[in-house]
Amino acid sequence: MEEIRVVTKNTGETKKLGEVLSSFVLPGDLLILRGPLGSGKTTFTQGLGEGLEAERPIISPTFTLAREVKIKFKGGQDGLLIHVDAWRLKARGGDIFEEFEALGIEDDFEGNNALVVAEWGDKIAEPLSDHILYVDFKRNMERENLRLISFTSQGFEEFEGFKKSVEAVFGSFTD
Ligand SMILES: Nc1ncnc2c1ncn2[C@@H]1O[C@H](COP(=O)(O)OP(=O)(O)OP(=O)(O)O)[C@@H](O)[C@H]1O
Ligand SMILES: [Mg+2]
Repeated sequence: MEEIRVVTKNTGETKKLGEVLSSFVLPGDLLILRGPLGSGKTTFTQGLGEGLEAERPIISPTFTLAREVKIKFKGGQDGLLIHVDAWRLKARGGDIFEEFEALGIEDDFEGNNALVVAEWGDKIAEPLSDHILYVDFKRNMERENLRLISFTSQGFEEFEGFKKSVEAVFGSFTD
């Protein structure tokens, strides 16, 4: 499976990476963000939101499970960014699939030109879309601010375009 890999050295670079991605997301896409606490998932989503002209800043949805923010896709369509953080669902136990369904995200997704960004929700979010981009965040033991961020596609249509753009902005970190 082809992978795009980037090393960021600070918060700003991770935001920039999210902003670069904003040119390549389409309505109906699902981004699944994986990685430990504090690895940069929300920071990345903030850059993505800025690139999509989000009407409100992206904040960590830790206490809400899901937040919806109006955005504009690069093609010009109005849309919705649905930012899900399933960490509390997981931490609480119980039937996480049932609770996730009760949030009604599937309905919002279908009717609204939406893009879903899910933190901590890989298994429950996967059924939402056939156009998935996985984003994996790794920290470095020795260097506090380094993050290795890698992307793999499962039906993400603009993967090649995104890859070229990442190479242009960040150099040839990709393989
Ligand atoms: N290269 C970097 N990229 C992103 N964040 C960085 C980087 N270097 C340092 N940081 C810091 O790491 C933290 C990342 O926090 P963030 O909320 O984005 O993580 P998260 O993965 O969303 O965590 P959680 O699982 O708790 O939601 C921030 O405090 C940020 O300033
Ligand atoms: Mg977060």
